[in-house]
Amino acid sequence: MMYNNEHIQKSEGGDRLNRGRFLTLEGIDGSGKTTQIAHIAEILRASGEEAMLLREPGGTLISEEIRGVLLNKQNTAMSVETELLLFAAARAQLVREVIEPALARGVWVVCDRFMDSTTAYQGYGRQIDLDLINQLNSIAVGGCIPDITILFDLSVDHAAARLAGRSGKTDRLDLESRAFAQRTRLGYLEIAASEPERFRIVDAEMTEDQIAQQIKSIIREGTSL
Ligand code: TYD
Repeated sequence: MMYNNEHIQKSEGGDRLNRGRFLTLEGIDGSGKTTQIAHIAEILRASGEEAMLLREPGGTLISEEIRGVLLNKQNTAMSVETELLLFAAARAQLVREVIEPALARGVWVVCDRFMDSTTAYQGYGRQIDLDLINQLNSIAVGGCIPDITILFDLSVDHAAARLAGRSGKTDRLDLESRAFAQRTRLGYLEIAASEPERFRIVDAEMTEDQIAQQIKSIIREGTSL
């Protein structure tokens, strides 16, 4: 999977009419969203659209460094508050340095995870106060809200089976992380229910092809592609 990490030149002005579309993908670990990014890129590029693929945390030098700190297995001492602030910091940089300038240039931005990951994982999963999370999210994104968010929804059992297949181990999710994944999944469903205009829920237990077809119609609906 190739993500755009190169520095993006800021364009002058920012014609709202020619503004690019901002699409984000969300779901619990093992939901298969990352596999679908390639299909999305294909659909957009086949329609002659310029598409920028990003993943969170990451996408700028600073955000990739923060990603390193977040994903480093040696950082076992990290508090949940530190984790929350680092995700927000990585996002704040990505929005200002890459996403906003790209949208202003008319590019489609497709991001693997965005602010809803923080609400679902840190808010519902780790049970940090949701009002606080919402405030922090708005500082981080500064009004740069996705136009469409596709939620890849599937049962925790199904996700666990996928992750097990990926790592070759029988089951990567222990009991505690299953409960965490379950809270996160239900959190995602609540967020989606509260913003039905922005969210499209895809049944991630379908086959890769079926999911790709559904995504195609989601992208086509409401756009001229
Ligand atoms: P990554 O290896 O990118 O996982 P995935 O391929 O599933 O996206 O790791 C990202 C992990 O960080 C993933 O478990 C979700 C979690 N995460 C949060 O807890 N909060 C966030 O705000 C973000 C963006 C990710």
